[in-house]
Amino acid sequence: MSDINSLVEARIDYREKYRPQFHFSPRKHWMNDPNGLVFYKGEYHLFYQYYPGGNTWGPMHWGHAKSNDMVKWQHCPIALEPDELGMIFSGSVVVDWHDTSGFFNGGDGLVAIFTHSNEGVQSQSIAYSLDEGQTWTKYENNPVIPNEHIKDFRDPKVFWHDDTQNWIMVLAAGQKVMLYGSTNLKNWTFLSEFGESDGAHGGVWECPDLFSLPVNGDLLNQKWILQVDIGSGAVAGGSGAQYFVGEFDGTTFKNVNEAEKTLWLDFGKDFYATQSFSDIPIEDGRRILLAWMSNWEYANEVPTSPWRSAMTIPREVELRQTANGDLKLHQHPIHELKQLRQEKIKINNRVVNGEMNVLKDQKEEVFELIAEVENLSAEEFGFELRKSSKNKQGTIVGYNLLTNELFIDREKSGDVSFSKQFKGKHVATIEKGLNKVKFHIFVDKSSIELFFQEGEVVLTDLIFPDDDSQELAFYIKGGEVTILNLEVYVLKSVWEDESEGATKVNE
Ligand code: FRU
Repeated sequence: MSDINSLVEARIDYREKYRPQFHFSPRKHWMNDPNGLVFYKGEYHLFYQYYPGGNTWGPMHWGHAKSNDMVKWQHCPIALEPDELGMIFSGSVVVDWHDTSGFFNGGDGLVAIFTHSNEGVQSQSIAYSLDEGQTWTKYENNPVIPNEHIKDFRDPKVFWHDDTQNWIMVLAAGQKVMLYGSTNLKNWTFLSEFGESDGAHGGVWECPDLFSLPVNGDLLNQKWILQVDIGSGAVAGGSGAQYFVGEFDGTTFKNVNEAEKTLWLDFGKDFYATQSFSDIPIEDGRRILLAWMSNWEYANEVPTSPWRSAMTIPREVELRQTANGDLKLHQHPIHELKQLRQEKIKINNRVVNGEMNVLKDQKEEVFELIAEVENLSAEEFGFELRKSSKNKQGTIVGYNLLTNELFIDREKSGDVSFSKQFKGKHVATIEKGLNKVKFHIFVDKSSIELFFQEGEVVLTDLIFPDDDSQELAFYIKGGEVTILNLEVYVLKSVWEDESEGATKVNE
């Protein structure tokens, strides 16, 4: 490439139309699932399903990035490439602290456990890294779990189970998950299966995860979360993420809820292939997950170039018992994101009705909005974001008190033309009779993440508004409410050094 061309490319890097400013996206080409999320020697690693040959899904590699804080990412060389056993599908990475695998000469190191996919037949394989994830060697006796007959057999997530001193693998297999155990990550024994008649089955089960969480922060009262995503038929249509709450004894997972009950992690349409980080230190104690921010119904068509897809912001999950006794996951944006805040708007104690828009004259494109609202004597209220009065554009984040529905309506959000499945309104039904509510909203160039009531209900949706659709509105229909407090923070770009090449490696 000529000097002038590379200069031009560097200038537009991470400033292209729709380019996420505080979400991870690859510099160019296609990305899907997060893989191998792990914390090791002070760094968070994010591997991901990647096709370096184009801007649509193709032969899968593992791309790689790392970070000190899960906010600012540094691109690294591709970690795993297809080989004679097939493409490299989704999987996980663990730290083998005590060299159970024998790869590390008595020390410790990273082991990746992933799916090899060869002409539709999938088996499980491993690779190890002696240099903190930079380069990988595939194990000579791959696959470690061969397969000839099971259709859709993939996405191993592995963790160390202290009570049984075993590695446990949870694997998606058609309409259920299968659990395997191992002492050395090389030889695996089938333990049990779960889910054939539990939860939602609108599509193939993919990308499972299994971890324990304290109930209401009580370390002596732990439950297990089995998260399983489905390829179609999820709550907002297309692909999405469900979870089960249960017990796990090292062999079998038991659902504590009735089999028919489906719990959704996210009620928006763009939250898939969820995975949580492995090996976050006990002193930290957080369980942090993120997801691919797209949907298989249109992921290959979204109007972005030269990259396709971004990850959600990382979210800390907690298990809380709600007023009616249900155990529910609550999601919180990780606190590290606060470093991006630049304060902009603050409103306190304001009684508002349909005649006024307290956010009139404000313009924001990439921002975080937090609002606590009480005395809810209205039919509906909420926010219009990325709005343009001139172009009649805008995305509505609303709460309807007549129907008890929380929603994101992206019908008029901007470019919706690339797929019939994209337009629409995504809804979560919430408990009746709330008199004080809290919205926590993250808006990037092409996405909205809404955390409602301390993350009890979450919606994630892509949007593709015009650059100059930046007006804001707080709207109310049929009554009045009190804005207890409302804060808007402009968020700094995590890619601001990108044009100097500071975070650029390879590709
Ligand atoms: C989920 C998925 C996984 C598979 C990968 C292939 O989005 O279909 O099941 O491993 O993508 O890219």
